[in-house]
Amino acid sequence: MVGTKACVAASAAGGVQPQASANARSFAQPARRNERDTAESVFGLPNRPTGDAFPAEASGVVSRSSSVTAARQRRICTDFPCIQPPRTRLPKWGYYTAPMTVGEAIAWVGARLQAAGLSEPQREAQALVAACLGWERARLVAHPEARLSALQAHRLERWARRRAQREPLAYLTRRAWFYGLELIVGRGALIPRPETELLVEVFLGWAGSLPPSVRFPLLREGNRPDSVPPARRGNLKEGVSCSPILVDAGTGTGAIALACLMHAPRWLGVGIDRSRRALRIAQANRHALGLQARLMLVQGDWLRGLRTGSVDAVLSNPPYVLPDEWDTLPPEVSRYEPRGALLVPAGDPLRPYRRIARGAHRSLRPSGLLALETSPRLAPIIAEQLPAWGFPSPHIVRDYAGAMRVVWAVRA
Ligand SMILES: C[S@@+](CC[C@H](N)C(=O)[O-])C[C@H]1O[C@@H](n2cnc3c(N)ncnc32)[C@H](O)[C@@H]1O
Repeated sequence: MVGTKACVAASAAGGVQPQASANARSFAQPARRNERDTAESVFGLPNRPTGDAFPAEASGVVSRSSSVTAARQRRICTDFPCIQPPRTRLPKWGYYTAPMTVGEAIAWVGARLQAAGLSEPQREAQALVAACLGWERARLVAHPEARLSALQAHRLERWARRRAQREPLAYLTRRAWFYGLELIVGRGALIPRPETELLVEVFLGWAGSLPPSVRFPLLREGNRPDSVPPARRGNLKEGVSCSPILVDAGTGTGAIALACLMHAPRWLGVGIDRSRRALRIAQANRHALGLQARLMLVQGDWLRGLRTGSVDAVLSNPPYVLPDEWDTLPPEVSRYEPRGALLVPAGDPLRPYRRIARGAHRSLRPSGLLALETSPRLAPIIAEQLPAWGFPSPHIVRDYAGAMRVVWAVRA
């Protein structure tokens, strides 16, 4: 049964290294205790927690030291026909109010995006102006007469130019929504997709159906309560319970793990990715959602190095774009999103799935969940292979467009 092994026993070979701490002091903070416990129980390694390295850009703070040069301002004025050229040298950012209203800005950006051939220029113009001002979209409608500052006008001009070159909107605004969470995104990580929410649904459905005795397993007789890491202790009177652990293999922005943990408060998580840039973004999201104590982020190669029988669920959205599909991708995806997050290995498209499934078979407890996102072309092949990889009776779940999207099974 899932989680019946109260504590993780055997250690495994290395291969996964907890990411180096950016902030040595945070190691001593009590908030990191759960993370250390997860590291020790899952990897058999004393975890060095990841720091709170919050990308400066993600905080939205703009340096007061940057200043508008008159030359740059003249360029803004050329690009925005509605801005009159300044007569004098401009003061610092934030003091100068450009004579452009919200309504004019939306119209200008919309026209520019339409000229670039985008399919929804008006909606995207509104999104850009709203993000640029830090407003809700409804407020744009209520205050079309509000004026943009010089800083905002300049940023909007840059965003409109980049969007016209087909850079994804989410990379410009640095925000994307996933399963009701607003996440930080950036060039190093895939933008979370709505169809991946299905993986979260499958996990929550499965986790919700587990009997309480499995969700909060008592320690086997003979185990001393103080041998259990505090993060895994429950408040059951008869004994000690263990928090179940999920692994998000190829975590990217951390979207899957964070959404699952937000909705499954008893669970702990481990997010693994080989990309450092992606992990930095995942760290920022973990911090923004206050889940530092429940999600450990690790740089590693799929599930290599996880202890045998140490986790309860493995979720993954590995790369699944086939080489012959690459040219059919929109430029937003093929030009800007990380290739390593999208494209299957040449000549062996099933390789990530095979490696994840074999790693999951080793690291999952009996009856643990393996859920994989994939493409409609690969889904039947993966479902056919899963029994040979140790997961009998796989299920295929279709997304809201009717395409086969998630394959899941429980470990034998
Ligand atoms: C399709 S993206 C999924 C990102 C995120 N989980 C999501 O659903 O939005 C695949 C992720 O797997 C990571 N990845 C690719 N190969 C990997 C490997 N060998 N080990 C660990 N992560 C890997 C990529 O860096 C990328 O972040």
